[in-house]
Amino acid sequence: MSGGPVLHMVRISDLIRGNTPTTTAKKETPEQGMKYNLRYLFPSAPESQPPEETSDTSETQESLSESPASDGTEPESFEAGGSYRPEGLYQDAQNYLLDIRDKLRAGEPVNLALSLNMIEAIIEDAPLVDELYTLTAEGGHNDDLDIVSPVNSMIYSLKVGKRMGYSAFKLTEVCMAALHHDIGMVFVDDAISRKEGRLTEEEFTELKKHTAYGRDILKALDETYPQVSRAVYEHHERENGRGYPLGLKGEEICEYAKIIAICDSYEAMTHHRAYRKAGSQHKSILEIAQAKDALFSPHIIKIFLDEITMYPIGSYVLLNNKAIGIVVKTNPTNPLKPVINLVMDGHGKRVLEDRRIDLADNNILNIQGSVLKDEIYQ
Ligand SMILES: [Fe+2]
Repeated sequence: MSGGPVLHMVRISDLIRGNTPTTTAKKETPEQGMKYNLRYLFPSAPESQPPEETSDTSETQESLSESPASDGTEPESFEAGGSYRPEGLYQDAQNYLLDIRDKLRAGEPVNLALSLNMIEAIIEDAPLVDELYTLTAEGGHNDDLDIVSPVNSMIYSLKVGKRMGYSAFKLTEVCMAALHHDIGMVFVDDAISRKEGRLTEEEFTELKKHTAYGRDILKALDETYPQVSRAVYEHHERENGRGYPLGLKGEEICEYAKIIAICDSYEAMTHHRAYRKAGSQHKSILEIAQAKDALFSPHIIKIFLDEITMYPIGSYVLLNNKAIGIVVKTNPTNPLKPVINLVMDGHGKRVLEDRRIDLADNNILNIQGSVLKDEIYQ
């Protein structure tokens, strides 16, 4: 499918007419106190009926069938007491993007403001951010890249933004930009966007257009979130001016775009793709760190390294006694000494019971390096 300005104009004008960001979702809140509800994502779906059938949306349909219906049951990710199950929220974010993609492809209007409820729910709940972060280690390998990868990038960007001391407004902006940063890919031919080999010059020219398509889609939010469309447009710009579409340098690039550039690169490096295996978190972080100011902002790299630690939650580590553990808690004062759960002992035998070790309290054990999950159970 290739992009076309007419389709864009229809979508965006519909968006502008039909929805005002930030206030729309809240005004539609059907139940006081329930901050997040799947119906926000699919407002046209009747409460008592499943949504109309469309092709290629099996995950969306499955989720909708579980959405709060006339029996008053709570949405999949909502728990009594006002908290959210991270697995449900992680999936709902993907369902949201699936729905947006389907609507854009069909030339239908989309309501991007519907993602605000999810984002607000995540921003307000610090433990939830860490739980979602854990899920990013598992999700996004060989999946539908346009759907899972941006969700992972949004979670990383949120963590970086928090460490930068961003206000709730700025966190919302950077999350909106990260979640939608590749939405313009919907108008790039799949044969190009999913090509595994080297792109021809002509194909690369087409691929680069996804930044402009994305900017045009996100422009509908400019009045309320003025930096979002700009960040989407600039997320492939690089510090040394060798990025695209404009070849901007350093301070010419907006800060959100710089954050997304690092987070998206890290996401791609650490997840399997059809044409290559994932790199370890350890190695990927080192690569980003070594890129320094050639590609990425040194200031944001430092913040990224502080936040996305050498041994992030959900990563696997090899100990000096040959045992393998999974990181369950990071140590902000000593990133090399996280809390782990043993998954394999020093003799290569699986550890099934819960054996938690705080490496900061252990003078004998230390980490030798990262390992990939696939390498553990070969
Ligand atoms: Fe992109």
